[in-house]
Amino acid sequence: MPSKTFYITTPIYYPSDKLHIGHCYTTVAADAMARFKRLTGHDVWFLTGTDEHGQKIERRALESGKSPQVFVDEIVDWIKDLWKILDISYDDFIRTTEKRHQEAVQAIFQKLYEQGDIYKDNYEGLYCTPCESFWAERQAKDKKCPDCGTEVEVVAEESYFFKMSKYADRLYQHIMEHEEFIQPSSRKNEMINNFLKPGLEELCVSRTSFDWGVPVTFDKDHVVYVWLDALTNYITALGYPHNPDKFDKYWPADVQLIGKEIVRFHTIYWPIFLMALDIPLPKQVFGHGWLLLEEGKMSKTRGNVIDPQVLVDQYGSDAIRYFLLREIPFGSDGTFSPEALIQRINYDLANDLGNLLHRTLNMIHKFAGGVIGEPIEEGEYDRELKELALATPKEMEKLMDQLQFSCALAELWKLIGRANKYIDETAPWALNREGKRFRLNTVLYNFVETIRIVSVLLQPFMPRTPQRIWSQIGIENQEELHTWESVKSWGLLKPNTRVEKPEAIYPRIDVEKEVEKKTEKKEKKKEKNKDKGEKQLTGNEINIDEFAKVDLRVAEIIEAEKVQDADKLLKIKVSLGDEERQVVAGIALSYSPEELKGKKVLFAANLAPVKIRGVRSQGMLLAADDGKGKIVLTGLNGDIAPGSRVR
Ligand code: MSP
Repeated sequence: MPSKTFYITTPIYYPSDKLHIGHCYTTVAADAMARFKRLTGHDVWFLTGTDEHGQKIERRALESGKSPQVFVDEIVDWIKDLWKILDISYDDFIRTTEKRHQEAVQAIFQKLYEQGDIYKDNYEGLYCTPCESFWAERQAKDKKCPDCGTEVEVVAEESYFFKMSKYADRLYQHIMEHEEFIQPSSRKNEMINNFLKPGLEELCVSRTSFDWGVPVTFDKDHVVYVWLDALTNYITALGYPHNPDKFDKYWPADVQLIGKEIVRFHTIYWPIFLMALDIPLPKQVFGHGWLLLEEGKMSKTRGNVIDPQVLVDQYGSDAIRYFLLREIPFGSDGTFSPEALIQRINYDLANDLGNLLHRTLNMIHKFAGGVIGEPIEEGEYDRELKELALATPKEMEKLMDQLQFSCALAELWKLIGRANKYIDETAPWALNREGKRFRLNTVLYNFVETIRIVSVLLQPFMPRTPQRIWSQIGIENQEELHTWESVKSWGLLKPNTRVEKPEAIYPRIDVEKEVEKKTEKKEKKKEKNKDKGEKQLTGNEINIDEFAKVDLRVAEIIEAEKVQDADKLLKIKVSLGDEERQVVAGIALSYSPEELKGKKVLFAANLAPVKIRGVRSQGMLLAADDGKGKIVLTGLNGDIAPGSRVR
């Protein structure tokens, strides 16, 4: 049986400059969706490309002393490289300067003219070049573009017009009858109230005051208006109208992703053009929010854009993809900051995911000779873990169908969190100590099987990380364990698989450099505050990243004894769950070795090892000291497994 098709598109980007991280947002989202649909068995067509004509590009090319074609060719190469390093798996990349597109646009324009939807007249009005958008006097108050705020230009020229009003009622009806057509629904209301209800103006669809566009075949003074040229890319790339095989197979698009500022073009102009061509409308147009910076919108003119290539070089493409998809609910605006990115990397990727893998492999090497055993003896907590592991793919699929990337990832992280808790609940180190080999093998198996399921589900979002996990858990060549089918059943992982020694897939990021940068910023801010007479910082504060550098854990004291010839020192062995540590602590005058056994205390786990009186010490028990000789160890207000993180 042929599999169900799925056609997804991104907007085509203006190659007027290099793209910034905000542009990557749409494309990464589309890629995650395309990969998810491929994983779940769909025949996917994923289109992206570049919108290369128009006055803006022509002017930018002139400014740089290049011909428009040479100018765009260079930037398009750069964009393709960017998509490569971000692992964007597009099936086709359309450039509006390609012959296949230009010929199709000319045929479309001619057809619309011949059937009487396009007519010639004179245009007098306002034009915003950055948005390539026409405005009436009443819309562009104070001669400013309502979308981007740039000063508009007065345009008076002979033009072809498209009869938008002819289709307005049909479009209104379609929108009202198809709840899913414009998403999120707030954008639908905006379109109805701001554009459809006040009445649609006829649209100017050709220009004569510049040349950089698709020539109108029957009137060589005119080039096709860039938005008519650009919007049709979604069908010309499928071969419409001359080679319609792909068009017949994939159209109508299942979802067209765009940013919120171009919803008007995609939900009013675009469907009306399609209606005029007698082509069905896309099933859904989704207008996502903007990625903002703390100081507001990213724009080249403000000089505050974030270069995606620099970020990828620094943190890797999977981490950037994860951040973009996880941090901001799709549809809403969200803020990008290096601090937020590092927090996601350190907490979600290094701690939650990385530690689960690391601890698991460590235990398999320590307790089972590096080989996954047979899961023979079931026990408490197993069912809960398995049920969640099997429910997670279904839940994620539901959320992905609503384009809720962030919620889908949150579901996956629930499973990761559950598995981390399962380690503490089942305490494999205790099972090992007590010689409960069958049970130990079962829980170790369950950890790896959960990690396998997590890694399969990660693929659409972070295409590189699963490979690294698979090679560590020894299944890189077992493709049948990487499929969507394989996460529908528990227990496909083969016992006796040998696992690798753990290697951190996401080492925590040293935030020192960021802190340095921030300190500089803080100094500047202090100066500013001083001017404003605001409360001063003392200069002793640390930020959350500096605090997070200390790996605080719950430790259980297993043994304690006096250090020879040292009155104040005790040699103490503690358990951190999956590992034991030896520390030397100066608490012998306050505690006897006997009373310490079994106590759970707070423990700084990532101090560099030292030797104290010749005894190795790695870590520190946290204690309060009144300065008069009294020392009291920190305790906990309830019972919790050793190794639990304190934050
Ligand atoms: N060429 C037109 C689209 C034509 S589609 C037929 C265009 N190009 S663009 O390069 O200016 O923008 C492309 C996409 O990038 C838009 O969807 C826009 O919303 C998105 N973004 C640009 N900056 C963005 C952010 N800061 N955040 C999120 N998306 C952003 O418009």
